[in-house]
Amino acid sequence: MRRSLLPAALAALAGALALTGCGSDSGGRPELSAGAAYMPQPVSADMAAGFLTVTNKGGGADELTSVTSDIAGEVTMHSTSGGAMTEKTSFAVPAHGRLVFRSGADHLMFEGLKRKPREGQRVTVRLGFAHSKPLTVEMPVRSATYIPSTGN
Ligand code: CU
Repeated sequence: MRRSLLPAALAALAGALALTGCGSDSGGRPELSAGAAYMPQPVSADMAAGFLTVTNKGGGADELTSVTSDIAGEVTMHSTSGGAMTEKTSFAVPAHGRLVFRSGADHLMFEGLKRKPREGQRVTVRLGFAHSKPLTVEMPVRSATYIPSTGN
């Protein structure tokens, strides 16, 4: 009787692991998290830039399709190449990859500011995706000249 219990328990455990997408093989689903967020204190009273990284540990790709914030009337997503800035409606989050918004490259633009963000404050940012549930990020406001210490 005890012998028959063990395989059943293992099967249940394996089933639970498969359901939560645990491990490196997550069955083609995205597993997103957001980090490295900051907003340099803006010079202008009506526009600010913001940066963050979305990490995908899952085996499925996703897309960032919307960004909203408590502080801004509108948040737009911009790509930068060759010094030119282009507004985009979505950004890919590759499987087992990252979407990086960073200074001098792709970035978020907060427009129609309801208040001017000051160093030390936090701005709430909500990220919407094509497949995954939305993520909420608390974005700290840094000094106007802040540069992250790591290149990651
Ligand atoms: Cu821009």
